Amino acid sequence: MSAPEDEARRLFAETFGGDAPDIAVFAPGRVNLIGEHTDYNGGFVLPMALPLITVLVGSQRDDGKICIVTTAEGADEPHKVELEAPSEERTLTPGTPKWANYVKGVIQHYRAGPLPGFNAVIATSVPLGGGLSSSASLEVATYTFLQQLRQDDGDAVQKALACQKAEHTFPGVPCGIMDQFISVMGKEEHALLIDCRSLEVTPLPLTDPKLSVLITNSNVRHELTGSEYPTRRRQCEEAARALGKETLRDASMEDLEAKKESLSEVCYRRARHVITEIERTSKAAQALEKGDYRLFGILMVESHNSLRDDYEVSCPELDELVSIAIEVPGVYGSRMTGGGFGGCTVTLLETSVAERTKQQIQERFRGSPTFYITKPSAGCGVLPR
Ligand code: GLA
Repeated sequence: MSAPEDEARRLFAETFGGDAPDIAVFAPGRVNLIGEHTDYNGGFVLPMALPLITVLVGSQRDDGKICIVTTAEGADEPHKVELEAPSEERTLTPGTPKWANYVKGVIQHYRAGPLPGFNAVIATSVPLGGGLSSSASLEVATYTFLQQLRQDDGDAVQKALACQKAEHTFPGVPCGIMDQFISVMGKEEHALLIDCRSLEVTPLPLTDPKLSVLITNSNVRHELTGSEYPTRRRQCEEAARALGKETLRDASMEDLEAKKESLSEVCYRRARHVITEIERTSKAAQALEKGDYRLFGILMVESHNSLRDDYEVSCPELDELVSIAIEVPGVYGSRMTGGGFGGCTVTLLETSVAERTKQQIQERFRGSPTFYITKPSAGCGVLPR
């Protein structure tokens, strides 16, 4: 049994007493290998699901009330919320604590009929706010739990879309589809190339024992105003409009150069990142299929530089982690992963140099990093009772 499952079951017994929970589900966090800030531009992304998971355990109750407790480290207080199950007349609204907004958003957007009340406990091994999709894993775990309550085996794409809508409307983050999608669809031993325009998925095997994926958490989170993500998204939309395209996916570098004068300097650079990143992601997918890790690594570093200089979502700590990692012989490439402004880097390297790379980072990085050497894992699912 995983650590979060064990913790959730223990707290369930402590909080609600009585029988063991009837339902136990999980949904994973993710790391994105390449294709950053491309999803909401209809582009390609290449994430893999992680063995870091969020678990929900619980049981139905008959009085229409919902009681949810979280054990997640770093979640704001209180760690217990009580609600009435939503109905036609009664909708849920966002509020505090913030962690509950992800759960409430999913309950509100769950479409397969009215929900009964329930008791549930949440536990997670996905670090909160670390850029490994703790939010999407909580949303998808909640949705999977509700499906068990309703015995609904609904469509997987609709499920990811409902969870994305929950994030747009409750916490209020206008995210793309990558995180929810990979948390639902993740596949063991595979990274997924996702076309965020058609939602077509191509699984790419990642099983070579000589190759490893190292995630380094900088453990810094620059609390900016929270408006950076929506601002980037708006700048991309503005650029697409100026180019006469529906999204930047439909634009080439030639299109962008031709219309350079009609764009602000900032919007030009944002668009340049997106257009080149979409191209890099397709090339990286082909490189991975051919086992050309060197090329994959070069593309990762180009991606990082473009996120740092053109998209301006990196930070000194992430830049430092990347520079230290790519100096180690046997490291193919390294880049920031996720939304940016802190969180994690992802490094592709020869398995034989993983320990040496960690050691170099420990010695030279000015912060206190945490490491995960990970393997592509399965998407969300139901755990045995
Ligand atoms: C966050 C969002 C994703 C995606 C990434 C950047 O993780 O939730 O939809 O836009 O940032 O690639």
